[in-house]
This record gives sequence, C-alpha cells and structure tokens, in this order.
Amino acid sequence: MLQLYAPRPGKAESGSVKSTTIAPTHPLADGRTSAAPLVRALRGDRPGRTPVWFMRQAGRSLPEYRQVRQGTDMLEACLRPELASEITLQPVRRHGVDAAVFFSDIVVPLKLAGVGVDIAPGVGPVMDQPYRTADDVAGLVSRTLDPAALDPIREAVALTVAELGPTPLLGFGGAPFTLAAYLVEGRPSRDHLAARTLMHADPETWDALVTWTADLTGAFLRAQVEAGASAVQLFDSWAGSLSLADYTSRVAPASTRALGHVADTGVPGIHFGTGTEHLLPAMRSVLVSAGITDHAVGVDYRTPLDEAAALLPGVPLQGNIDPALLGAPWDVLEAHVRDVVARGRKANGHVVNLGHGVPPDTDPTVLTRVVELVHSL
Ligand code: CP3
Repeated sequence: MLQLYAPRPGKAESGSVKSTTIAPTHPLADGRTSAAPLVRALRGDRPGRTPVWFMRQAGRSLPEYRQVRQGTDMLEACLRPELASEITLQPVRRHGVDAAVFFSDIVVPLKLAGVGVDIAPGVGPVMDQPYRTADDVAGLVSRTLDPAALDPIREAVALTVAELGPTPLLGFGGAPFTLAAYLVEGRPSRDHLAARTLMHADPETWDALVTWTADLTGAFLRAQVEAGASAVQLFDSWAGSLSLADYTSRVAPASTRALGHVADTGVPGIHFGTGTEHLLPAMRSVLVSAGITDHAVGVDYRTPLDEAAALLPGVPLQGNIDPALLGAPWDVLEAHVRDVVARGRKANGHVVNLGHGVPPDTDPTVLTRVVELVHSL
C-alpha cells in the first residue's frame, strides 16, 4: 500500500528541476497516514472503522475555540501558525474524529494575494468592493500570490501534522465559482445572481476571474499538501445555484485547474457542494479530469446516499448527516445517523460527515456521541 504514495523519482534527483511529488517524510509517504481509515475509504476500501469528521468541526461550537479566539480577528487567527494549529487540533482531541481539517478559510489566499477581504462575524466574507466589470477583474487578476506569503500556512500545517501522528490532516480550498461568487457580489448573497450574470454577460472576464481564483486555490492546496496534508477537499459550497450546462461549461474547467495543482502528489481528494444533486456526476468528472485518482464526492443532506450512489456508481461518497438534526433529541439523531451509515453501504467507500458545516450553537458533546456511534456500527 505504501508504494502507492512513495514519491516517484522526481527530476530533482537529476539536479535540474524541483521534484513535483511529495517528500519521503510526508505522512502518506512514510506510512503514518497511508492506512488511515479516511485515506482507505477515499481509495474505495472498507476499513474496519468507518471514518467520520465534520465540516466546521473547528469553530464556535467548541468553548476551547471561543476561548483561544478571544480578541483575535478570524483572518488574523488563520495566519498565526501556533494558533491555527491549536484550533485545528482541538476537535481531534475532543471528538476522536478520523481527520483534522486545517483551520483556515477559503478567502485566506485572496487576503494573501493582497485583496481587501474580511470575515464579518455571523455574515461571512466581505470584500473591499465588488469585482464586476472587466476593469475590476483586470485589476484583480493582475495581482500575484508571492509564494512566501503562504509560509504561515506551511508552518501551521507542519506544526499540526507533527502532533497528529496517524490521524490525517485534510487540506482544503474554495472552488473558483464559490470564491468568484463572493468577489463579484462583494459579500455573501442568496442566489449568486451577479456572478451568474457575469458568466453570461462577459464570458471572457468571467474566465479570467475563475482562472485566477483557480490558481490561487491551487497554490493554497499545494502549500498544504507539501507541508503534510494527507488529502484535500475542494469546497464549492454555492455550486448548487448553477444549472448543469453553466456548471459544465463555465465552472468545471476552472475547478479542474485548481485540483490539477496537486494531482501529481497522489493525494486523495474530495469535491463538495450543496444543493448539487443535479451536478454530482459532473463534480466527479472534475476529480477525474484533474487526475485526482483516489477521490470521493461530498453529498449534502438533501440527497440520500443510496440515491447518490446510484448516480455515482463505484464512487466513494462523503456525507450526509443533516446538521439540523444535531439539535434534535438523541434518539431522533441516532436513528438518522444509523440510516446515513446504512445507505452509505451502497457506495464504494464512505466517509461520514455532515451535509454542511456544524452549526455554531451545536452542543459539542453531541458530536462526540455521533463519532462514538459511527465507530460502533
Ligand atoms: O473546521 C473546519 O471546517 C475548518 C475550517 C474552515 C473554516 N471555513 C473556518 C471558519 C473551513 C473548511 C472553511 C471553509 C469555508 N469558508 C467555506 C466552505 C464551507 C462552507 O461552509 O460552505 C465558506 C463558504 C467559507 C466562507 C465563510 N467563512 C463563511 C460563510 C463564514 C461564516 C460566517 C459566520 O460568522 O457565520 C466564515 C467564517 C468562518 N470560517 C468561521 C470559521 C470557524 C467562523 C468565524 C468565527 O469563529 O468567528
């Protein structure tokens, strides 16, 4: 199993070009995480223990998070390596989940490229201006990301991986469409109308925008993988607002480009969106076209996993506990989790997760109980 991920001899050995594969000390290469339940499930195996982690497992549901975040702005916290690492480790210690997810945000690479962005508490990412016209976008895409700007990310990942041992760290990035939806609108929106208008009103500007965001996310993913992340997840949270035709022609090529930045490393990948039942096969195709051989598709709570498995034959799935049920009485939640796990058996590999992120008011002891339940099944 190990040689699957052993670094292929890169050109570095011949002295000319930097190796494009992972280092021999990477957790997937040195064996620390290569047989972890998460990694095995993403390869289509059925490990003895069904892996489970939660989107937004690090965050406001944890009192220890609220404590260490006090007085520190969200994006500032993301760029302080010791703090970001501590926050990443908190839910692993508390819940015994099968993966850590790197504490950061999809807009961090925008910030590192010099874009004026903030995360407003309770709202989400807010830009210094909407980027809507050809001129706005031309100014934006002329910005480049200095590789050194990603050093705090690499440092936080390295600190975290050193503590995690056999638990894989999942790196992540925002998909080009979801990032563009924030950039074009300037702030969170319901239907992402401005972004969907731009892709038709000025396709060239749109392509320039999503190509730029793809490379930014690609660099962010690559920094995490090189520093020790054992898998990556591409979050296209708002892709569900798109028709299949728009997704396929105007968005999928950019998402493929983003994931293409890490394909040569051999890390497994997960592609997630919400409201995407009509897009699931197309989202899977993105992973395949990008060359992410070992992969899963994330399914939100709207589509039962056995139905998703029928749409994606042979493909490992991730999901899809309804976050709303975390607040329901335990017997209701327990029956739902059992149902999710049972339906997930129809897929060729299953990583249990929520259908979207942990709501901030979730009782964290409930999450720990869900982990214990999944592991017992
Ligand atoms: O535990 C984890 O999941 C890891 C960290 C993580 C965060 N954001 C931390 C965060 C991840 C993977 C993200 C991704 C992200 N960020 C997405 C994709 C996933 C999704 O939820 O759909 C999106 C759309 C964003 C943009 C964003 N950032 C939103 C919508 C918000 C919520 C705003 C709010 O206050 O409700 C954020 C802020 C954010 N990112 C928080 C956290 C823990 C909350 C900030 C805080 O604690 O004050």
